Amino acid sequence: MSIPHHTLNDGSELPAVGFGTYPLNGAEGVEAIVSAIRNGYRLLDTAVNYGNEEEVGEAVRRSGVPREELWLTSKIPGRHHGYEDAVASTKESLHRLGVDHLDLHLIHWPNPSVDRYPEAWRALVDLQKQGLVRSIGVSNFTEAHLSRIIADSGVTPAVNQVEMHPYFTQAGMRAVHERLGIRTEAWSPMGKRSAPFAEPAVAEAAERHGVTPGQVVVRWHVQLGSVPIPKSATPQRQRQNLDVFGFELTDDEVAAISALDRPDGRLFDGDPDTHEEM
Ligand SMILES: NC(=O)c1ccc[n+]([C@@H]2O[C@H](COP(=O)([O-])OP(=O)(O)OC[C@H]3O[C@@H](n4cnc5c(N)ncnc54)[C@H](OP(=O)(O)O)[C@@H]3O)[C@@H](O)[C@H]2O)c1
Repeated sequence: MSIPHHTLNDGSELPAVGFGTYPLNGAEGVEAIVSAIRNGYRLLDTAVNYGNEEEVGEAVRRSGVPREELWLTSKIPGRHHGYEDAVASTKESLHRLGVDHLDLHLIHWPNPSVDRYPEAWRALVDLQKQGLVRSIGVSNFTEAHLSRIIADSGVTPAVNQVEMHPYFTQAGMRAVHERLGIRTEAWSPMGKRSAPFAEPAVAEAAERHGVTPGQVVVRWHVQLGSVPIPKSATPQRQRQNLDVFGFELTDDEVAAISALDRPDGRLFDGDPDTHEEM
């Protein structure tokens, strides 16, 4: 199965759908990630804080797929936001994964009350120049955080990975990303524990296209231009979630799913302006 790509603002080609690896750990986690790669996923999403970079590296080696065909993403945790800490953190991630570069490296949370994310960003800019990281980006950044690092460094992140699913559609941040030339990646793209699979807008579209509700949700992301990274430990669902390039939702179907957005739809229940993720 060939997956379409998005050209990022640095010229790299990001697969249009990826695979989330949290909380896949241990031998079972390796199995699930090997299965995902063999089922066609090329973009894998991990983080220092998931504690599974070794498992991801092991799965890459066991998969039989050449390293250069894969897009490995990791994330710098809040406790590593100092410049030197961010450099050391990245080298440790490379070591745990057993690779010589990351394809995408993100700042996991801005941790605004610590206020050192601009330092972490400057470290990423330098790590990219050194070739240890191919593309650089952020996660859970607001417009103000993005503006600050762009003004400070002159470098715009290639990606901002944010919570996005049919109950929390991120229309505002997607417009900001569009204006700045940043690709939206969607975490918890299915809506995790509160996936909207029984909603008529999703279930009826699935019925009409002869696909599953999960495929409809992934396809909705694809048509909005966001890159979903669904996690599934189930090989059959892994295959389904990637098999979304043989049908197209109508504009009305996309709009009906986007209309599921609701004020209390956010899964994250902290205050994004003060939340600390160490
Ligand atoms: N940057 C951040 O701050 C941040 C935060 C949260 C998550 N993430 C990333 O985003 C990834 C995905 O998010 P997530 O795991 O929270 O949520 P998700 O991908 O929206 O949902 C995962 C859940 O949905 C189930 N599922 C997946 N496909 C399905 C299908 N087709 N039909 C029915 N159920 C299905 C999975 O169950 P089974 O495994 O049993 O199939 C799992 O319980 C994470 O793994 C992580 O890499 C990033």
